[in-house]
Order: sequence, then C-alpha cells, then structure tokens
Amino acid sequence: MPKKVGMIGCGNIAPQYVTGLSMFPEDITLAACADLVAEKAQAFAQVNGIEALSVDDLLARDDIEIIINLTTPNVHHETCLRVLNAGKHVYTEKPLALKREDGRSVVDIAASKGLRVGCAPDTFLGSGGQTSRAAIDEGRIGRPVSATAFMAGHGPEAWHPNPGFFYLDGGGPMLDMGPYYLTALVNLLGPIKGIAAFTSRAFDERVANHEAIRGQRLPVTVSTHYAGTIEFVSGAIATLITSFDTWRHHLPNIEIHGTEGSMSVPDPNTFGGTVSVWTPQTQAWEAVSPRPGAEYLRGVGVADMARSINRGEPHRASGALGLHVLDAMLAFDESSRARRVIELSTTVDRPAVWVP
Ligand SMILES: NC(=O)c1ccc[n+]([C@@H]2O[C@H](COP(=O)([O-])OP(=O)(O)OC[C@H]3O[C@@H](n4cnc5c(N)ncnc54)[C@H](O)[C@@H]3O)[C@@H](O)[C@H]2O)c1
Repeated sequence: MPKKVGMIGCGNIAPQYVTGLSMFPEDITLAACADLVAEKAQAFAQVNGIEALSVDDLLARDDIEIIINLTTPNVHHETCLRVLNAGKHVYTEKPLALKREDGRSVVDIAASKGLRVGCAPDTFLGSGGQTSRAAIDEGRIGRPVSATAFMAGHGPEAWHPNPGFFYLDGGGPMLDMGPYYLTALVNLLGPIKGIAAFTSRAFDERVANHEAIRGQRLPVTVSTHYAGTIEFVSGAIATLITSFDTWRHHLPNIEIHGTEGSMSVPDPNTFGGTVSVWTPQTQAWEAVSPRPGAEYLRGVGVADMARSINRGEPHRASGALGLHVLDAMLAFDESSRARRVIELSTTVDRPAVWVP
C-alpha cells in the first residue's frame, strides 16, 4: 500500500514535488497540503486535486504518515519538530536546519520516537549521481584523490518571486546550493573530515527582478561568496566555490580526479546529465553508459524513504546525511572567521546505491 503523504509549504518548489512524487505511485500518494497562508494551500490543492488543510489539521490526520516540509529554511527546524511531535515521519527540504544543534535535535528526536527524517537534496539518486557513483565503485578512475566543485552565479533575485530569504540568515549560496554539491561529493567520496575556507560579501543590498516585486530592495546579511578546501576521511581533497557574486564563468560543475583517470560529473542540482571519464589508455573523454533516473524530479528521496520504512531498511536522503552536510556548510563561515581549519563533529556512511 502506498503511504499517504502531506505537504507543508505550497510555494515555488511545491509543484515539482507533485510531479516527482507521481512517478512512484506504488510507494506514495500525496493526499493533502497546508501553508501558513491558507489561500496558497487552497489554490495549490485545487490545481492538484488534493485536500487543503490547516497545519494543525494536517498534523492531526491519522491516515497521513509522512509530511514533506517545503517551508523556508528559517522554519525548517521548528516545522520538523512539530511533525515529529505529531508522530509522523518528516522529509524536509534543505538545509536540515540553520544550526548544528537544531539539526541534531531533529535527528535525535526522530530516533527516540522511532520515526524517520529525510532531507533534500535527492538529486544524487538520479542518473548523473548514480552513474558517477557506479564509475567510482567500479574503479574507472582508480582511487579518487581530488575534486573540484563550482556553483557560481549572480543569485536568485533575477527569477524567484520571493527571493528575500536567500540573503538573510539561513540563506546565501552555501546553505542554499551547497547541499547539492556537498551531498554529491559525500555520495562519491564518503564523509568529510575538515574544512578550510574564506567567505565574503560583494553587495549589502540586492534588487528583485521578478515581475511581481521588480525593484524591491533586499538587504543582504550573509556571505555571498564561499571558497574552501575540503579534506575527506579517505584522504581525498576537494575545492568548492559557491557564489552569488559571479556574473559569468566557464567552470565545470564537478570533476573527480583519481589515480587512474578523471571523471566529469554533471550538475548536481539536476537528476540527469552526462558522466564522462578520461584515462591515459583512451586519451579521450568517453561518456559512461547512464544508469536510470534522468527523468526524476524532486520527491524520489521521499519515495525511497516510504519504501525503506516498509522494508525496514535505511533510506538514502537521510537526516544523518543532511546533518553532516549542514555541519560542513557551517564550517565554511566558521573557518573564515577563525582563520583556521574546522574539524567536523559529525560523520556519515556513503548512502547505499539506489535501486529503482
Ligand atoms: N525554489 C526552488 O527552486 C527550490 C529548489 C530546491 C529547493 N528549494 C527549497 O525549498 C524550500 C522552499 O523554497 P521555495 O522556493 O518553495 O520558497 P517559497 O517562499 O516560494 O515557499 C515557501 C512556502 O512555505 C510557506 N511557509 C513559510 N513558513 C511556514 C510555516 N511556518 N508553516 C507553514 N507554511 C509556511 C510560505 O507561506 C510559502 O508558501 C526551501 O528550503 C528551498 O531551499 C527551493
């Protein structure tokens, strides 16, 4: 029987989940939604043929076992706790929380209640993430020794209808986009040991460009350029830049370099893309035959969680992974402020390979 799922937060990303969840009808059914703004929930429910409820009424529904938290990052922690305290499993959009202790409390409270925590991103379960993972596991590039990862742009105020939160506490290019890159790197290279980084901010104010709020001035209270070096427990070293201060560039998304070859990994904010490998034998970049999942949308991680609950197995886009990624992301600003290496306080195993 598919598990019934409810959604809290009916904003910009919510429609993608509706389509993404619908790809896994044997595992999950989206039954109801709620939003702080009741009219948003009603409009969303009407378009998608589901029930609109208040948050309290949604949490009181006995037939709904999993809640997807699509609220803004500043309320992820409190919303996750409300869900868990209502006795339901929670799958939250990234980041898990804004502080380590808050992220840890979500994971710990869930464990104490025998409930699951899932955390976005789930893009690493797509074709790009799983094909590159298989290539590493098969030894196509030998032992990975280094990586580069770049997410650079000029910020979401050009297109997002509600971009203010990206520039306030809990926003910035690391907490917003870092989860895709760090989760992809952990999936490929394993847990992170320590971070050394510098961070900066180019502008104290941004100007919104979405037609609904064009010209609105947005204060910036967070770092908007992050440059750091990541040491993995395996000994591999990665260079990561996340930036909202970059107009244009020619940087690749992710490359992994091993003892026997190099690998190009597609954009970890998507599910598809081509993985290619270069070796001294071939002297050329050759596409790796893709694993399934190029067509997935956000929601596959929720489906995996529902399926794993039924099977009594660990799920892949887990709270522990989200907490480790949060630990790493916070270490960038901390390292920059302290001008020293920050050793992470958490660790996590590489998630199991996804079997569709
Ligand atoms: N927009 C994207 O492209 C995108 C992509 C991937 C992930 N995300 C993540 O998804 C989450 C939501 O982003 P978004 O772009 O949809 O934001 P949004 O502002 O468009 O939507 C958030 C919704 O949550 C509601 N909300 C806020 N606080 C609430 C509360 N306490 N209780 C109930 N509802 C509440 C708001 O009213 C709003 O409708 C964020 O964590 C973001 O990082 C967004």
